[in-house]
Amino acid sequence: MAIPQHTIDQILDRTDIVDLISQRVKLKKTGRTYSGCCPFHQEKTPSFHVYRDKQYYHCFGCQANGNAIRFLMDIDNRNFVDVMKDLASQTGIELPKDQHDNKKLSYKREAKKPTPIAQPKPTAKDQNETSAAQTTSSEHTFEASGIDFDPFAEFQSAEYANSEFQNSEFQNNADPFAGFEQWDTMQDTPAQEGNLYDLLENIAQYYEQQLPHSPAAQQYFQKRGLTAQTLQFWRLGYAPEDWQHLEKAFPQDIAGLKLLGLIRTSDKGRDFDLLRDRVIFPIRDSKGRVVGFGGRALNDEIKPKYINSPDSEVFHKNQLLYGLYEGRKQKAQDYLMVEGYMDVIALQQYGIHGAVATLGTASNTDHLNILFRQNNRITIAFDGDAAGQKAARRTLEIALPLLNDGRELKFFVLPNEHDPDSLIRREGIENFRRLLDQAPLLSDFVFAHLTQNHNISTPEGKSQVMGELRQLTELLPKTGSYRYLLQQFFREKLGFNRKWQAQTNNDASLSFSTKVDAEEYVIAILINHPYLYIHFEPLRALIPNDHLLHQILNILNTIFDDLPDDPEQAKYYILGACSAYHYELQRILQQANVSDYTTSPEHVDKLAQDFSTKLQYDCLQQKIRSKKFSSIEEMKRLKHQIYEIDKKRSLTLLEE
Ligand code: UTP
Ligand code: MN
Repeated sequence: MAIPQHTIDQILDRTDIVDLISQRVKLKKTGRTYSGCCPFHQEKTPSFHVYRDKQYYHCFGCQANGNAIRFLMDIDNRNFVDVMKDLASQTGIELPKDQHDNKKLSYKREAKKPTPIAQPKPTAKDQNETSAAQTTSSEHTFEASGIDFDPFAEFQSAEYANSEFQNSEFQNNADPFAGFEQWDTMQDTPAQEGNLYDLLENIAQYYEQQLPHSPAAQQYFQKRGLTAQTLQFWRLGYAPEDWQHLEKAFPQDIAGLKLLGLIRTSDKGRDFDLLRDRVIFPIRDSKGRVVGFGGRALNDEIKPKYINSPDSEVFHKNQLLYGLYEGRKQKAQDYLMVEGYMDVIALQQYGIHGAVATLGTASNTDHLNILFRQNNRITIAFDGDAAGQKAARRTLEIALPLLNDGRELKFFVLPNEHDPDSLIRREGIENFRRLLDQAPLLSDFVFAHLTQNHNISTPEGKSQVMGELRQLTELLPKTGSYRYLLQQFFREKLGFNRKWQAQTNNDASLSFSTKVDAEEYVIAILINHPYLYIHFEPLRALIPNDHLLHQILNILNTIFDDLPDDPEQAKYYILGACSAYHYELQRILQQANVSDYTTSPEHVDKLAQDFSTKLQYDCLQQKIRSKKFSSIEEMKRLKHQIYEIDKKRSLTLLEE
């Protein structure tokens, strides 16, 4: 059984690791963590720690570590699916059941009706000349079982549209559906059960095949500057004017069409098509399967401008992004959220891959999470007008709680009266890229956003801005350092006087390239920016007990939750808590020369993370080299940890 990532995430979200482990291990709260005797190795003094905020456990003794799933798998020696079934029932979240799902995807097909249309048998000559057409029709229409559907075979039907077979048989035919019905009747044994995915694929092909029959639709796309290649890539099509074209083309599949919401029933009980005389944008899910359609009117007088097919068993707008499948297929690195289908398509045509759009709905947490899974840094485009500002603010509020683990959000504010489609046409790719690259990071955007309504040359204005900022930082994850960094950043930018100046020199930013001892440098960072502890927490398990850094990390673990929000006070607080090491700290702070940073908080966060990762790596290497492990198991775990860090490091390209 394949369990989708979002279901796994959901289940983990609803499982509390402290509660779960407490059922097996006697845990005691010590500061930020819960500790007890490790269930994975023999010990008398507790070195097994559980972190509620990170939903993670770690044993200082044997290096066992992981999340709730790992814990259950290891402690009971069970497999993944088994554990997931358990957790699913405990959390009340349903796992996809293969059979159950198939049932929902199927509908009853009607018996084949005799067709009044004569069926010309293709001649040998036809067959030779139109092998592409034959392949297509047989692959997609006769045997479209969907099981072996190749998501990358999408150009085939377009090939068909241009083929000679199409021209001679269809174009001269008064009834555009004749050819289609003809295929239908050639089916040997009518299937009794239809599958919604197969039906959607067939409909997408049908719409594509209608495009060459509509000069108006072709002209529309031409007017919007789309090339033939673009039409093919996005599988754009046309839904004819006829009120019942889908019924005629798919007479056996009325039940399926209704499940998909593509056929409506009037008050008088007459069925009619949802999408008529519109250009069609097929919407694909992340696997490339067609799951729904958007239809745009051919001129702007017709309202509504866009109609999307409604949600169905296979189409969930709140969890889908138009262009995501195509972006991944084109190996997009950076993702840009825009508003409309045409924006996504125009950007792709110009060479900006990775633009995605919601399907006529406001963006929500799911959408942002999907994008953050593609890349830690995402950009959202907004109109420059008042409505755009409002949308940006709303998105900001949705996004803030998601910003942890080095995630970054950029805001691309478009010039007035432009959308990405019109902007890239005016500016061209080079200029557009430049504008996109200049999009401000969240910190700068928020600063501009909050300061525009206040006079920040006055103390009142400044404190109003800080007050509004606090409302926003409240939304950030409680466990991250970003909350603190953002406030620090604002204070610097607003020019608040600092009461307590660390031993700094002004040009030294927090670069972490240092000649002083690395561990001492971490201490200096932690004293100056205690909220960065979050990034250095994993070192607690790795730094030997008799090192000062170990003591400082322990103190931070104990007091972290009580650290005052105000950066100044936080610094005093930690100094007070570490007063036993007063003299050593004094020396370290003088030598290490950590300055208050002036670069963006995002940058500082990342530097801290990278520095911590590097130290973890060094510690692990050291342990292995000095053979400081008690069993083969432990050595394996150490090696696995090194491997995990290596993976992370190769992603961030750390400098030594
Ligand atoms: P816009 O109205 O901003 O139009 O809709 P656009 O994307 O610039 O479209 P063009 O360039 O005029 O063709 C943005 C998105 O909002 C949804 C669609 O998903 C559209 O892409 N929308 C818009 C609807 O669902 N219904 C509508 O009536 C209008
Ligand atoms: Mn537009």
